[in-house]
Order: sequence, then structure tokens, then C-alpha cells
Amino acid sequence: MDYESLGAQALDSIAKAQDLDALEALRVAFLGKQGSISGLLKTLGAMSPEERQTTGPKIHALREGVTNALAEKKAALEGAALEAKLAAETVDLTLPAPESARGSVHPVSQVMDELAEIFADLGFAVATGPEIEDDWHNFTALNMPESHPARAMHDTFYIDKDASGYETEQDMVLRTHTSPVQIRAMLAAGGDKPLRIIAPGRVYRSDSDATHTPMFHQVEGLVIGKDITLAHLKWTLETMLKAFFERDDIVLRLRPSYFPFTEPSVEVDTGYSYVDGRRVVGGSGDAPGHSWMELLGSGMVNRHVLTAGGYDPDQWQGFAFGVGVDRLAMLKYGMNDLRAFFDGDARWLGHYGFSGLDVPTLSGGVGVQA
Ligand code: PHE
Repeated sequence: MDYESLGAQALDSIAKAQDLDALEALRVAFLGKQGSISGLLKTLGAMSPEERQTTGPKIHALREGVTNALAEKKAALEGAALEAKLAAETVDLTLPAPESARGSVHPVSQVMDELAEIFADLGFAVATGPEIEDDWHNFTALNMPESHPARAMHDTFYIDKDASGYETEQDMVLRTHTSPVQIRAMLAAGGDKPLRIIAPGRVYRSDSDATHTPMFHQVEGLVIGKDITLAHLKWTLETMLKAFFERDDIVLRLRPSYFPFTEPSVEVDTGYSYVDGRRVVGGSGDAPGHSWMELLGSGMVNRHVLTAGGYDPDQWQGFAFGVGVDRLAMLKYGMNDLRAFFDGDARWLGHYGFSGLDVPTLSGGVGVQA
């Protein structure tokens, strides 16, 4: 066979190759070690110089033509393969989107929002203060001077000032209660106007068991006016608890107590009973099948505290209270181990958490059913 028809045949089979595998087989058949064109090249050695001069260029031209044809065909087949892949992998925009994991609102956040909503309706603003607090705001201004025995009850976390770089002569602490916000709110108000605030937030005590965690949450309440009495305190707490637990039969018992920052001080109990093994708030604690449970601490603001807050205690008076938010959440939504609140277990959060869209409102009901 002459070299031209051999070339034509080779180009024809290359053109007809269906895929990259078939093309590779052709490359091996023509140009591989045992390939037909490789075989022709080997014959050059045995030829006479004249013969080689005429035949050599023909064989080389044949090899070059086949090499180029193989490369072109390869590029074409690869392009076609890519197109086919792209066509096969088009995105179907009509398919439903895969569901992504959705977060939930922690019961503590939910309850703080519920309380803020209830108190907003009663004319209370939300006040805040730092969680790393100085000794004066956390203790001294609240009528707990240094060496006051009540300080020992607080199991305080102290900040290592030297390590932290605080430029202060005072001890710095993780606030042990939200009461220092009372002082901050009074000072910010300037000592000459009535005040109605709540202060929700984190507090810290070195304490840990099934009902105590080193970090927990409180809501502080403070009302200052010229004629605020203990009766206002009782009405406010009763109104708040009725709205929060969504029951009209909340009965409170005020018990004499002691806090350095209130005088007189009262601990507030609420009646409850067990329903299906769960504590349910409502009714008098003296009613059959009922008991009293301690709910919060409160009292009339001590005159030393008013003075520290820049208010003249001969002109102004008021009440304050502090309530544990985690406790309220457990009572309302039925969890029984406080520690689980802060484990960050997604299953617990999925079960007890709230949808971010369930914003508590008075008109819509602050009590979302868990
Ligand atoms: N700060 C008190 C506590 O943490 C609670 C409280 C607040 C009591 C305000 C009276 C008035 O126990």
C-alpha cells in the first residue's frame, strides 16, 4: 500500500473514533512501540541512501499528519465530554431546597423577652450594667461595706486585677446579682426624677449543683417615686406573675426577710400544687394539696442605697426586687434540671427552644406553648 492511502485510512479511522478510549487504541496501533507507522520508520535503516531520501520524508509526513489528527480529535472529544457533563448536571431550580438546621431561641432569652414585654406595658424601661463590676457598685453602694457579713453569702468570683490590666484601686468582681444596675440607673437619672426600670442579665456565683450553676440569670426591678409603697410592690409582682403564668389565681405570701439593700425586706412566696408530677403555680399555698414556694427577694429601697444612687432619702422612696429567670423558665415550661440549660445540647434546645418568630407580645400572648 502506498503511503498516501495508508495516511488517508488512518485519518479516516481517527475521524470516526467515538470516544477517548477508542482514540487511544488508535494511537497505540499507529504510533505505539509495535505500531504500524513506528514499524515503517524502522524500515528506513535498511534502505539505500537514495531510497531513504525519497521515502523518508513520506513516512515522516505520514507520522506528522497522524500525530496532528490524533491531537485535534482528542481536543474535540474532550470538549464534547465536558459539554455532555454540563448538560447532565444542570441545576433543577424547581426542586425543593434542602432543609438547613434552624436555631431556636433559648428559654432563658424567651422568658427575659416575655418579662420585658410585660414590664414595658407597666411603664418599665430596660436598664443594663456590666457583668464585670466593681466592688462599689456590686456591694458597697448596696449597703454592704467591706467586712459586711452578707458579702460572704455571695460566693463571689474575683477578677485578678494585675493579670487583667484594670486600672482601678477597687476589687473587680463578676457581678453576683443584678442589683448594681439599681445604682447605675439611679446615678444616670440624676437623683431628681421618678424611675421605673427592670434589668435582666447574667450573674455569677461560685456555686454548682442540680439547682445552682456558676452563671445564672436575674431580672432586677426598681421603682423610685415620692409615694411608692410596699402595696405597689405587691400589686406589681402579682400583676407581673399573672401575666407571665397566664393565670388569675396567683396568690402571693410576703414574708419578712433581710437584704442589706432593702428595708423592710420581704421574700415573696407563691402557692403551687403538683399536677401530673409537675409543679404548677396557682392558688393559695394554704389550700388543700398546695404548698408555698419561695419565688423572689424584694423590699423597700434602703435609704443608704438611695443616697449612694444620688437620691435624697427624705424626699424619695421606692421598691426593688430580684427574681431568678432560670427558675421562672423551669416553672413555666417544665424543665427540671437547671444544668441542662447551659450544656448547649442541640436536642434539648430543639425540644425546649422557641421559634425566633414567636416574639412575645401582650396582645398575642406572652406564653408561647413549648
Ligand atoms: N439581689 C438579691 C439577690 O440576688 C435579690 C434582691 C433584689 C432582693 C432586690 C431585694 C431587692 O438575692
